[in-house]
Amino acid sequence: MIISPSILSADFANLERDIKLVETNGADWIHVDVMDGHFVPNITIGIPVTAALKRVASVPLDVHLMIENPEKYAQDFIKAGADILTFHYEAMRNDEEIFKLIRLIKAHGVKAGLSIKPKTPAEKILPFLDELDLLLVMTVEPGFGGQKFMEDCAEKIKVIRKNAPSSLIVQVDGGINAETGRICRDYGATSLVAGNYVYKSADIKSAIESLKA
Ligand code: DX5
Ligand code: ZN
Repeated sequence: MIISPSILSADFANLERDIKLVETNGADWIHVDVMDGHFVPNITIGIPVTAALKRVASVPLDVHLMIENPEKYAQDFIKAGADILTFHYEAMRNDEEIFKLIRLIKAHGVKAGLSIKPKTPAEKILPFLDELDLLLVMTVEPGFGGQKFMEDCAEKIKVIRKNAPSSLIVQVDGGINAETGRICRDYGATSLVAGNYVYKSADIKSAIESLKA
């Protein structure tokens, strides 16, 4: 299980400290939530901050683009140091554009991820599973940390697993804690994103361990 703590729940005045904090306590990746105020009703991290995070992180940067026109900015985030670059199905015009962006990301030696919002059925993304490195299932409406996990969204993992090569990383994001993380693992998830559960915990090491267990 790949654990990717979301720095959206970290202290933005102490990002270096808060990256080290999760790295030394078992984080496999650092999840970077990029929001543009258009695709989602919130604005968070952009290209220069991602590049700064790259200078201090020793584990891979798992960049989650919640932006319109991801194809316009993908190369900038790759240059900034994204190791995994995930964009949203709903932000794209058609299947052809999605294939194009997946191939562009992979051509740079970066892992390509595609994400679906709660209302998007899993069937929509089945054509891309063979080419993707990662499929991200959102279990909250993207935009904010600290929301409640929606189990009916996690059920999509079953359909995805049935149709995907075993090498595909199936990641879940939104309202993940020890209990909801276990539900996702039972459905076949292989990576968990957690913001509040990790960063607001008094014992970060056991919080991360509980997600791996
Ligand atoms: C939500 C973001 C998530 C968020 C998760 O739009 O994509 O990564 O940080 O936060 P928690 O784990 O608190 O729900
Ligand atoms: Zn995210």
